[in-house]
Amino acid sequence: MTQQTWFVTGTSTGFGKSLATLLATKDDVNLVATARKTEQLDYLDQYDHGQILRLKLDVTNPDEIAASVKAAQERFEGIDVLVNNAGLGYFGTFEESDEKTVRYMFDVNVWGLVDMTRAVLPLMRAKRSGIIVNFSSVGGLCSFPTLSFYHGTKYAVEGLSESLSQEVSASGIKVLIVEPSGFRTDWAGRSSAKKEPEIEDYKQFADFIQSNATGAHHEAGDPDKAAEIIYDQVAHHTESLPLRLPLGKFANDAATKKFKDNLELFGQLKDLSESADQPE
Ligand SMILES: NC(=O)c1ccc[n+]([C@@H]2O[C@H](COP(=O)([O-])OP(=O)(O)OC[C@H]3O[C@@H](n4cnc5c(N)ncnc54)[C@H](OP(=O)(O)O)[C@@H]3O)[C@@H](O)[C@H]2O)c1
Repeated sequence: MTQQTWFVTGTSTGFGKSLATLLATKDDVNLVATARKTEQLDYLDQYDHGQILRLKLDVTNPDEIAASVKAAQERFEGIDVLVNNAGLGYFGTFEESDEKTVRYMFDVNVWGLVDMTRAVLPLMRAKRSGIIVNFSSVGGLCSFPTLSFYHGTKYAVEGLSESLSQEVSASGIKVLIVEPSGFRTDWAGRSSAKKEPEIEDYKQFADFIQSNATGAHHEAGDPDKAAEIIYDQVAHHTESLPLRLPLGKFANDAATKKFKDNLELFGQLKDLSESADQPE
């Protein structure tokens, strides 16, 4: 049986924990489970028969990225699947958001994913194979008030991933962008900072922020089912792997509406758009 080595960031809770738990039960998987605090990975004890490597990894720490990729390479002779899952949220209006906090969110959601991917790409190119799974969000395709900076990070993940997929396909590397709607993880709760609107014009959005906070752990999405779907697509549908994978009914409905609306708009604007070119 050929072993496939998966490297997953942010496996302490949520999607990362669900995926790590599932992967730990697979006979043909070597698992590199990473977290900022490795004591949060004790849940893997019951599955560990030498096929699991647990590593401390904060994706904003370049030394830890380099050390963890090196350790994975030494232990399992490569990484077949990189899952860039670690991520944070932020609720606040565009004008009132706290700059330091949202810059840090970009460090985790965007630069953490970029730095991890750059560290792993040379190994995958050398093997002429590999799959990079990047966690975006329905919020990487569609936008809602009070989430502008979160959207900024996830739209960045979309663009980076789409372009990367074109650059690495000839090297045998595929990219899968995962776009969930609300799932029962810690994201809307402890992983998302919130800034209550103070400016009168924005107080209308206070309820939206509040309802997301109180709705944490009551979302429609089941992270264990998401893990099954991601694993199945990557392990069993490699050849037909889609570039994008919206997960959850809301994600699929919202993304479909956004692209339908854009299709209609671009059709209406066709003549006007084309009139901006130089005459041939
Ligand atoms: N749940 C949803 O509704 C939803 C929807 C769309 C997209 N997503 C995306 O799904 C991904 C996973 O989030 P989740 O929903 O599973 O939420 P979660 O349960 O809060 O998990 C977030 C994970 O990211 C880790 N993390 C945060 N900062 C990190 C850093 N600097 N270095 C390494 N790990 C770090 C956390 O580790 P600690 O335990 O150390 O904090 C935790 O393991 C995120 O990218 C999120 O944006 C979630």
